Amino acid sequence: MKRVAAAGTELAVFDRGSGPVLLFVHGFPLDHTMWAPQLEAFTPTHRVLAPDLRGFGASGLLPEAAGGDGAKLTMEGLADDLALLLDALGVREPVTLCGLSMGGYIAWEFVRKHRGRLARLVLCDTRAAADSQEVAEGRHKTARRVLAEGSQVVADAMLPKLFSNKTLADQPRLVEQIRQVMLRTNPQTIAAALLGMAERPDSTSLLSAIDLPTLLIVGAEDAITPAGEMRAMAHLIPAAHLVVIDEAGHLAPLENPSAVNSALEQFLAKQEATRSQEE
Ligand code: MLT
Repeated sequence: MKRVAAAGTELAVFDRGSGPVLLFVHGFPLDHTMWAPQLEAFTPTHRVLAPDLRGFGASGLLPEAAGGDGAKLTMEGLADDLALLLDALGVREPVTLCGLSMGGYIAWEFVRKHRGRLARLVLCDTRAAADSQEVAEGRHKTARRVLAEGSQVVADAMLPKLFSNKTLADQPRLVEQIRQVMLRTNPQTIAAALLGMAERPDSTSLLSAIDLPTLLIVGAEDAITPAGEMRAMAHLIPAAHLVVIDEAGHLAPLENPSAVNSALEQFLAKQEATRSQEE
């Protein structure tokens, strides 16, 4: 992992391979390792970037962490970090941004503020809608509990909802690995991200203005961002294609990597071929 200075902290980033740039943005409260099967599959043909977002994984803790519970990680701030990261790594060409869940919320902000840096979008297991008042209040409550009791509050609440029945039955080591990533995530980071997600704007009205080739991927058994909701999003984005992944829940890229990789491969091959014909 490289380390890159970004606005008062240091971001750890997986950066390997050469070719068109793929930028993978992880979900909450995880780190870049949730993309392990994609990092391996695409490094031979692409420059693959996968940061640990501010405060997560091996990246520096939030400067605010020492100050207690006032910190907030906004989706806009996390999108700005990605732009700084691309600058620091010397990436000037438009990239394919692939975000899962919270990574998708960050992708909406990246589209709003850094559209020129994007060639295409891949949105996995995410939503465009903002939180309802009830969900936002729940996040505030959970943030207070995490600060008081630790990261296992979120691990216990989220783990049963993250995976398909098949993953839960057949891949206990994968489930445990994700649990460990959650437990290692700093409680201040978790609380700050919860507050940031709670105040994210509704991005539904942005969808019809997205003028980028877009692939949507969702696990057929996703209980957090259900396939029906992603299908409705796909209808609103002009150049979107939706792929539903069997035997997968909210972490489709990790649960059924061969299906996700082949969807991604087909999408990229088609887009990259079109682009080279145009050049
Ligand atoms: C995620 O996987 O990033 C979370 O489920 C996002 C959320 O809590 O809304």
